[in-house]
Amino acid sequence: RSIKSLATSPSSHILRRGYASEAVPQRKVTVLGAAGGIGQPLSLLMKLNPLVSNLALYDIANTPGVAADISHINTRSEVVGYASDAELGKALEGADVVIIPAGVPRKPGMTRDDLFNINAGIVKGLCEAIARHCPKALINMISNPVNSTVPIAAEVFKKAGPYDPKRLFGVTTLDVVRAKTFYAGKAMVPVAEVNVPVVGGHAGITILPLFSQATPKANLSDEEITALTKRTQDGGTEVVEAKAGKGSATLSMAYAGAIFADACLKGLNGVPDVIECSFVQSTVTDLPFFASKVRLGKNGVEEVLGLGPLSDYEKEGLEKLKPELKSSIEKGIKFATQ
Ligand code: NAI
Repeated sequence: RSIKSLATSPSSHILRRGYASEAVPQRKVTVLGAAGGIGQPLSLLMKLNPLVSNLALYDIANTPGVAADISHINTRSEVVGYASDAELGKALEGADVVIIPAGVPRKPGMTRDDLFNINAGIVKGLCEAIARHCPKALINMISNPVNSTVPIAAEVFKKAGPYDPKRLFGVTTLDVVRAKTFYAGKAMVPVAEVNVPVVGGHAGITILPLFSQATPKANLSDEEITALTKRTQDGGTEVVEAKAGKGSATLSMAYAGAIFADACLKGLNGVPDVIECSFVQSTVTDLPFFASKVRLGKNGVEEVLGLGPLSDYEKEGLEKLKPELKSSIEKGIKFATQ
């Protein structure tokens, strides 16, 4: 059953006219897994984003309630909920950006890799539908292990037809969000001004924050940098343990996912110099996928930016992460091609 919100109040008509005259393009965003721990707050944040004109919320459970609830918010986008497999095509049709937080989260003692067996299958099925219904959409992959789910998606798209690597993104923004927060606290600088690139992958030691490039500059000791690096790498586990069996990061992830989707929409709309870190197909290292700074544009990835100068500690971290990241990528490819 689809739930449609009809904008009937005078204020929403004014809002729509306002946007039409400013020529903000129509943009449809689809969230797959919209009723989950991440999906719900992420859908809320996308409903608050004025760049979105249509918000499609899809989940295999509990979608009608979430969609009805969010649809009452008096912002620009029209919200439609899609509640079953049969409606997945309609949810995806015409989407400009598809955000995927569908899957199971970690429990204490689990690594992101432990999620592989369940989430790999979910992601594969959803990407097959994306290839059929909205092959031109930008895909924001949140489902873990991102180091493997992004290669799975790539293989599915290759099999389905022309694969455009510029349109596939692993969302690593939460690593950047954490690195910024932790750095600001340690360096005693205003968090809103902080920038820290995070490269590599999205699990444990594959997450490599480049604090040597952090701004504003601060004189942190080697011990402090090591501690900040470890805390960023283990940020997910910190939350999993604090939630004690009730899931993993959802609220901070929703925030991070909303930031990344917003960057994709800005790129699509032609805003210049939109740069975010993301796990994408890459030639920055010898690995086929790698997270680094990416310039976003009208076709998705406009440019994959290089690593810049690394400290000795970061160079060491880069060499250490490569074998693990390589094996996670290969695991994804193997799953999808079997
Ligand atoms: P959750 O269990 O609360 O929600 C997952 C949702 O996906 C549920 O509503 C479920 O019904 C739905 N779902 C399952 N199979 C589906 C399918 N085939 N189609 C559509 N929806 C489906 O889990 P939570 O906490 O929201 O986490 C979701 C994923 O995000 C997990 O894989 C988790 O590991 C990952 N994650 C990624 C992060 C990142 O930084 N990229 C950070 C935190 C979590």
